[in-house]
Amino acid sequence: MQERLKKILEESREQLKKAASLQDAEETRIKVLGKKGELTEILRSMGKLSPDERKELGQAANQVRAEVEKMLSDTVNNLKEKAKEAKFKAEAIDVTEPGKTYKLGTKHPITITIEEIAKVFKSMGFSLAEGPEVETVFYNFDALNADPYHPARDWTDTFYINDEILLRTQTSPVQVRTLLSQKPPIRVFAPGRCFRCDTPDATHSPMFHQVEGLVVDEGITMADLKGVLDSFAKQMFGSDTRTKFRPHHFPFTEPSAEMDVSCFKCGGKGCRVCKGSGWIEILGCGMVHPSVLRVGGVDTEKYTGFAFGMGVERIAMLKYGIDDIRLLYENDMRFIEQFK
Ligand code: DAH
Repeated sequence: MQERLKKILEESREQLKKAASLQDAEETRIKVLGKKGELTEILRSMGKLSPDERKELGQAANQVRAEVEKMLSDTVNNLKEKAKEAKFKAEAIDVTEPGKTYKLGTKHPITITIEEIAKVFKSMGFSLAEGPEVETVFYNFDALNADPYHPARDWTDTFYINDEILLRTQTSPVQVRTLLSQKPPIRVFAPGRCFRCDTPDATHSPMFHQVEGLVVDEGITMADLKGVLDSFAKQMFGSDTRTKFRPHHFPFTEPSAEMDVSCFKCGGKGCRVCKGSGWIEILGCGMVHPSVLRVGGVDTEKYTGFAFGMGVERIAMLKYGIDDIRLLYENDMRFIEQFK
């Protein structure tokens, strides 16, 4: 019996030494101390012994049990400790590691240019107006006094969805929408995308941006138009900038003009940017045609107005020295990141 007890103790020690998991330790416990465990059986069988034997063996058996129990709890504690350490190790944060860096995007040059234009007009009391990119023939052409046979209406210039709906070819329809939804005094600017059936090349893109402007109030004259647009040019291109207005024709303005600014690159001496002329054409403008005002429900006896429209790509390209409009839409990050 003593031998068996010794063996149980030795075996338990060996097994627990090898125990790699709580499950292993539990198996040893069941094997030795469980209901049908080796030691339990010895203790149970002691009834058959004489009192002296029982006393002696009982002491020895209890000692073994105490030792096995102690080993068990040590093993369990040890394993738990190890598991905890492993967990901490796995979850450890190496504070010396370089942090994850998120690359910030940059604003597109077109966005930057629209924001600059918007800032100038906001400072002059203009507010933002908007209209849909999918427009009706009525707002894009008819209401703007466009001749029924105007070449711009042609299938080759305009993306038609059907006979009445198209992709707007200009931001000017926002003028009419604004006249119909607001009462004078009106002072709005309307940036947005426009579409024309153009084959892409260095200066043409089937999608491009314009900023439209509209002012309607009592007593508005060409002098107001010139003052506002001259001030815009000076804020946008530098205070030395001079402006010049050349007669032109647009169906929705009368009289109409194009505004040139003195070349902001050479100051007017003549260079590559201004193609040697010293002047750069920047926008179309004019006094709103009475028939446009009438479509917009404005009393033409009381009110007059002026309007203007500029191409954002053209201004961005001139300002940043971009020589091909297609660069603006290729989204090559090496290009776009230059405009921070
Ligand atoms: N909508 C014209 C275009 O696409 C630009 C324009 C010219 C707008 C004169 C205007 C204006 O408001 O008065 O070419």
